[in-house]
Amino acid sequence: MADVEYLRSKLTAHPDFPQKGIVFLDIFPLLRDPITFETLITHFLHHLTSLTIPSIPSKKIDVVVGLDARGFLLGPIIALRLGAAFVPVRKKGKLPGTCETASYEKEYGVDSFEMQSDAVKPGQSVIIIDDLIATGGSAKAAGELVAKLGGKTIEYLFIIELMFLKGGSKLDAPVYSIIQSD
Ligand code: ADE
Repeated sequence: MADVEYLRSKLTAHPDFPQKGIVFLDIFPLLRDPITFETLITHFLHHLTSLTIPSIPSKKIDVVVGLDARGFLLGPIIALRLGAAFVPVRKKGKLPGTCETASYEKEYGVDSFEMQSDAVKPGQSVIIIDDLIATGGSAKAAGELVAKLGGKTIEYLFIIELMFLKGGSKLDAPVYSIIQSD
């Protein structure tokens, strides 16, 4: 737990950003200091290697899916350390080749995510990672893309979970967050 308090102490809060009424929690200070960044990645790795997955006795994670954009800062490092594939979920129109699409609600209007259709194979076990879960809309869309390709999402991982928005209740697998915020 000491590492959780250490990581929490490095977060910065920015009232009224990007708009009035939002307290924006910035994870970039955690990445600025290599010791903090290492603590963060090691925390996720310890969690993942101690995870018990009854349906997957070998506990093998095949694919780490990172969400556009800050999931790209965490996902590839965790994938490399696990010996898993890294797969990006990007905003619509950014990925070449055949893609699957899923929409999600934002503060204003709707946006769409895409994943390359050959990026996850049927039966593969997948974790989905991003920096923060708010309403859970974007994570849910990522989970839908994994499911469309026949993958099985084992868990959603975040540095921060905004508990009052109950985003985890939208998702088809458990949430693991290092820091819970009200
Ligand atoms: N995304 C949605 N809400 C956020 C918040 N409060 N801080 C950082 N990113 C967010």
